[in-house]
Amino acid sequence: MELRAQIEDANYQYHVLDNPKLSDAQYDALLRELLDLESRYPELVTPDSPTQRVGSIASQRFPAYEHLRPMLSLPNAFDASELRAFGARVRKLSGADPSYIAELKIDGLAISLRYEEGTLMRGGTRGDGRVGEEVTPNLRTVASIPLRLRSKSAPRMLEARGEVYLRKSAFEMLNAQREKQGAAPFANPRNAAAGGVRQLDPKLTAARKLAFFAYGIGNVDELERIGTQWEALDYLRDAGFPVNPYIKRCRSIEDVIAYCEVWERKRDELDYEIDGVVVKVDELALQKVLGSVGKDPRWATAYKFKAREARTKLLDIIVTVGRTGTLNPNAKLQPVQIGGVTVSNATLHNAEYISSHDIRVGDTVVVMRAGDVIPRVVGPVLEERRGRLPVFAMPDTCPVCGSAVDHPEGEAMSRCTNAACPAQTVERLKHFVSRGAMDIEGIGDVLADQLIELGLVKDLSDVYRLSDADLERVPRTGEKTVANLRRNIEGSKRRGLARVLAGLGIRFVGSITARALAEDLGDMDALMNAETEDLLRSEGVGKEVATSVRLFFDQAENVQMIERLRSAGVDLSAPKRKHREDGALAGKTFVLTGTLPALSRDEASALIVNAGGKVTGSVSKKTDYVVAGEDPGSKFVKARELGISILDENAFRKLVGT
Ligand code: IVH
Repeated sequence: MELRAQIEDANYQYHVLDNPKLSDAQYDALLRELLDLESRYPELVTPDSPTQRVGSIASQRFPAYEHLRPMLSLPNAFDASELRAFGARVRKLSGADPSYIAELKIDGLAISLRYEEGTLMRGGTRGDGRVGEEVTPNLRTVASIPLRLRSKSAPRMLEARGEVYLRKSAFEMLNAQREKQGAAPFANPRNAAAGGVRQLDPKLTAARKLAFFAYGIGNVDELERIGTQWEALDYLRDAGFPVNPYIKRCRSIEDVIAYCEVWERKRDELDYEIDGVVVKVDELALQKVLGSVGKDPRWATAYKFKAREARTKLLDIIVTVGRTGTLNPNAKLQPVQIGGVTVSNATLHNAEYISSHDIRVGDTVVVMRAGDVIPRVVGPVLEERRGRLPVFAMPDTCPVCGSAVDHPEGEAMSRCTNAACPAQTVERLKHFVSRGAMDIEGIGDVLADQLIELGLVKDLSDVYRLSDADLERVPRTGEKTVANLRRNIEGSKRRGLARVLAGLGIRFVGSITARALAEDLGDMDALMNAETEDLLRSEGVGKEVATSVRLFFDQAENVQMIERLRSAGVDLSAPKRKHREDGALAGKTFVLTGTLPALSRDEASALIVNAGGKVTGSVSKKTDYVVAGEDPGSKFVKARELGISILDENAFRKLVGT
């Protein structure tokens, strides 16, 4: 039927190809039309109709689902040498030196789907590999699972296998929603996906917005036409299944190892969790020769990434004060190894987080360290809580200066109300002298602490009033250090308004926004006198930013501090931007990815913005250029898929004319 095909096609464009052709409203209109038709002619309703994605509540537990061929599990390899051992065994047992397919190991749950004459009839979980649970109505709600195959001639029978998972973005939304409703948040996307598939009411499954990747064929009556795993994936893709785009054919185990290393580093760039790489001998005939031992195939293995979670004891909660006065609770932990790094501190975010997760000092807690972000406490292991532990309370006075703490209604963070709080001053000072701001080499964390402690710096402008005698009072600063510092401090006076502004630590004003404001307004006086509406004209400045800037300059002590910077000779002007439309890159949108050989990200952005171009964070059809350095990641892949021009640093410099 025309209408049904149209709807399923829109679904496929949206959920499998990630390239919607219809607006949400158009889609809804079609679906409503179909629902209406089917309610008038119920005999038209068949199980593969798009209206059947959400069915009715199951009466009891789920029926058994027998797999046509057993769903095997995978032996593990934990490092390169174990991967080499796997390769050596494959070569020895098969007498061949085969190619491998490397696939991301999606962290969800394995399912199998049975299509008869092209229509999805049944679907079930893996269970013990032989029999699982039939959860067909729930699987129908997964939008990227085809209800009908798209192949030109449908096979009589096909069993497709793959992983149902939850995107990280959907997971975060789901948890935010649950917290609002007072329900306990899920620990990770896998648990949320697995729970979702096993709901009695398919409406609840549908609400989780699960996704699917197909990775194998259990059985198909045309199996003899398919000679390799690579062809099996092609077959599945042609049939309308989503297949992960990062699969790779590898000629040797060394290629496999390189692939594993790349993805262990880049896993955080994906919008779904992966916990390793699955390596499969490509040739199906060879797979057969190799066979399996028990449930473990000898033709495949799973390289497991290093664990990023560990359990340890929460020894104490220490509250520190940040640059903007926020009170930050930090966990002091019994030191524990996570992914090769010893972790003894982790963030607890805020008081709200601690109470909603019921985290208490003395608990065994799960700690996670993902990529290069700060380790965080995921939650307590309640089964291991012994006796009564005290509930944590945020202090109501600042732990550093003793002033009152404010906790604005609706905000997660508590703040110290004293703008002159030494904890805030020291953080502000560190930020002010950092590389993206005034870039004063020699004033590192230690010296900054000492300058505040000795009372030599009370506000940022004091940096420019330090006498040689002042500097000599600091322990371990000799004549030479003092001379160097002098020179660096002097030199920093010429950085210009954008850098000063970035250094002031105004809430929401980072280096890019600071540059936009500086160049649009031209000098500090214009900025201090600007109305909110004037500020809003700058790129990247919305209401929140504009209000924050106004608030900063409405405070007399800030204005006085700026006047002291001025009288010390700090340059508070900016080259006014050439009119944007005149720039060489006027109207062009750029995305930066990877590390460029010579330019920092800020420098590259500045070149683009100065030439009238725009920098955005993610690649879409609206992107004109992607500037890619070393280790470019998923943005690079996406750009290639969309056919967007990709520039290296040299080509980029040519384009901007430097
Ligand atoms: S193949 C014999 N490929 O990992 C082959 N499994 O124990 C068996 N998984 O729970 C599976 N991504 O659901 C295969 N690309 C992938 C996979 C994958 C994730 C899961 C699978 C199973 C576990 C393997």
